[in-house]
Amino acid sequence: MPSSSLQTADFPAPDAAAQAHSLALVDEMRRIAAPLGGRLPFDRFMELALYAPGLGYYTAGARKFGAGGDFVTAPEISPLFGGCLARQAAQILDALNGGDLLEFGAGSGALARDLLLELQRLDALPERYLILELSPDLRQRQAERLNELPAALRARVQWLDALPQTPIRGLALANEVLDAMPVHRFRKAADVIEEQFVDLSAESPALVWAPPVSPELEPAVTAIEAELGAPLPVDYESEINLRAGPWLSALGQTLEAGGALLIDYGYPRQEYYLPHRRHGALMCHYRHRAHSDPLAFPGLQDITAHLDFSAITAAAREAGFDIAGYATQSSFLMGCGLDQLLARQDPDTPEYLELTQGVKQLMLPGAMGERFQALGLNKDLDLRWSGFSVRDLQGRL
Ligand SMILES: C[S@@+](CC[C@H](N)C(=O)[O-])C[C@H]1O[C@@H](n2cnc3c(N)ncnc32)[C@H](O)[C@@H]1O
Repeated sequence: MPSSSLQTADFPAPDAAAQAHSLALVDEMRRIAAPLGGRLPFDRFMELALYAPGLGYYTAGARKFGAGGDFVTAPEISPLFGGCLARQAAQILDALNGGDLLEFGAGSGALARDLLLELQRLDALPERYLILELSPDLRQRQAERLNELPAALRARVQWLDALPQTPIRGLALANEVLDAMPVHRFRKAADVIEEQFVDLSAESPALVWAPPVSPELEPAVTAIEAELGAPLPVDYESEINLRAGPWLSALGQTLEAGGALLIDYGYPRQEYYLPHRRHGALMCHYRHRAHSDPLAFPGLQDITAHLDFSAITAAAREAGFDIAGYATQSSFLMGCGLDQLLARQDPDTPEYLELTQGVKQLMLPGAMGERFQALGLNKDLDLRWSGFSVRDLQGRL
């Protein structure tokens, strides 16, 4: 992760208010790091950078999505994304004789809106549309967007602060959520594993390596090497998501029966920890520029990590799920009937042109089509998902 290679000078400068906000966040990090010797393990830094109450990227008012923000996600690109997911949801809700939808991290609310509208068209509305959102700012934006829905749909939407206490049946959805979970960063030194920290004791925060303080890190890296069948090269740096396992375990306890659909960028383990990816696959987004420096603009930029889908699959099995399928986003959307949704539109309208442009972004291999993967999980449900009918690559996990 060569922070020195980043030309932040080329980036649009944050205005004075944004700079003050970022400095306030760094002060808060310093306060938290003080009893820890002035440094934070990378995952804790990432957690604060994204979710510190009132200051983090997701918990404060940054624009985030769309043209005026830092990145775009599939639901922002086309309503047909939500339309496809609705068709998948309808199949699962039908197999369960009804149930709920539970969306994690619902962004601007676009996916919830498109799903509910299409499910209404299919006469397959969920009993409740539950949204678990960590960001107060996004929760408000979602409420504004969903208030535009007909009252009968809006009435089904409920926001949660934590997973429901009583078990639910239905479909859990997480689009680009697991990539926003804080990760640990590690380096393979000659004989030991080192952990990355952010040193906040000097004037500018700096990345440093030191013996791990996170007890789970070393065994997790050893397990990666065991599965790869060879030690990682010396000086190899990467990251590992140690929070996805507990998240899946909690979801497994809440979801009595149904499915979970996780869509994100990532790779099977053998591809993730390739020798040439020797600085890992962390990505930051600031005003539509992707780069690899997590220390640039704390609180003003998104920090994300690709998923190790093999690790996610193993954790899901441990949490009581079966694997329903694994496919590229393009195969999954085709399996859900994207072409039929498009064929329903009138080609002689300006909206049609816009829709076809969106479809290209969702489907083309160099855009999102093959960089994003869909992982489907069944819980106490024996169902072949339509989304994996075109192609199922779970053998690669
Ligand atoms: C990149 S945004 C994606 C938003 C939206 N799903 C979309 O596709 O536009 C990541 C979202 O995940 C949320 N998030 C991260 N970890 C979460 C968790 N454990 N539970 C619920 N939401 C989470 C963040 O608050 C943020 O809203």
